[in-house]
Amino acid sequence: MSEIHFNKEKGSQLKLFTPGPVYVPERILKEMAKPNDTHRSKPYSEMHQLVEEGLKKVLYTSNKSLIFTSSATGIMEACVRNLVKDDEKALFFSIGAFGDRWYQIGVSNGKNSVKEGVEWGKAITPEFAQESLNKDKYSVVFIQSNETSTGVYNPIDEVVPVIKDYGALVCVDATSSMAGVKVEVDKLGIDICLASVQKCFSIAPGLAVCSISEAAIDKASQVKNRGLYFDFLGLLKKNEVHQTPTTPPIPQIRALAAQLDYIINQEGLEKRFERHEQLGKRTRTWAKEINFDMFPEKGYESNTVSTMKNTLNIDIGKMVSILLGKGYRIVNGYGSLKNKTFRIGHMGEITLKDLEEMLNILAEIVSELK
Ligand SMILES: Cc1ncc(COP(=O)(O)O)c(C=O)c1O
Repeated sequence: MSEIHFNKEKGSQLKLFTPGPVYVPERILKEMAKPNDTHRSKPYSEMHQLVEEGLKKVLYTSNKSLIFTSSATGIMEACVRNLVKDDEKALFFSIGAFGDRWYQIGVSNGKNSVKEGVEWGKAITPEFAQESLNKDKYSVVFIQSNETSTGVYNPIDEVVPVIKDYGALVCVDATSSMAGVKVEVDKLGIDICLASVQKCFSIAPGLAVCSISEAAIDKASQVKNRGLYFDFLGLLKKNEVHQTPTTPPIPQIRALAAQLDYIINQEGLEKRFERHEQLGKRTRTWAKEINFDMFPEKGYESNTVSTMKNTLNIDIGKMVSILLGKGYRIVNGYGSLKNKTFRIGHMGEITLKDLEEMLNILAEIVSELK
């Protein structure tokens, strides 16, 4: 079999400034390469428990945390199947592609789903949330914290309390911000807060995690046809013995256990959030310096992925591919935003120095293409 290499320097890592999957540090790759026992063994359960405990710290919660043997979309589907009864209505706030996807999951699972959205680039404000919630009675509300397609961060610290006032359960998709941006699950009363690990956790893909409130557990026990693979109650039962019902990606779980220890005890949560804030700020200043406007409405820009408008009207595909030739990957705009925008991911283990190095090279490429 021929060897597969993602970088032209065979065996070396591409420098990924992507919104996921992101750069995985050597120490994590080494963890993943360690030999395994089965997922019913004692060492596995100990490792699983470390992940549960670490996640609670990252999410500032005493709620239970669950490990899913899927990517984040699996948990998004689980939320819909486990929490919405047939005679209820679910509200999906959408500010981009992943909000639209959650709504589609609702529809395709036969749930009574309503979407309330704003123009791409804008955020859900508390006022907008209130207006939407006044229109009907919703039992569960779904919202992204960070919308990766637009680079907008919803002000969930303000929006979630508004939703809670209406008595609905709240599910937050924090896929591209968990472990990069602070979310205080208990303080806000978030019922499910979910993410996959290939973004701010800097782990190779294949695993997703969430916190789950007692209210959500209680609700799941009243909902029929939850399915099997994503049944919250089945997952919770096995979680009591620190296992998953089906075979999990053990290397990723080992890596996550090590990474949570690093995040909490070595880098420190506050420092990690600050670093992401600095990365976001620096990218926005760079964009301004070379005359790219930001796509998101001012004040709602993400600190984990920056989306720039193609204000200079350059060939974005060419820019991305020249940069790739130098060993760095950034990405074009998402879906219909292709060529109209481009995105720089700055999440996970990227440092300000790494970012600066890439932005300098990118600025040279931009000036040649202008
Ligand atoms: C905000 C958001 N939600 C959900 C997803 C889907 O995640 P996954 O590919 O892990 O299923 C993504 C992936 O990019 C995302 O950015």
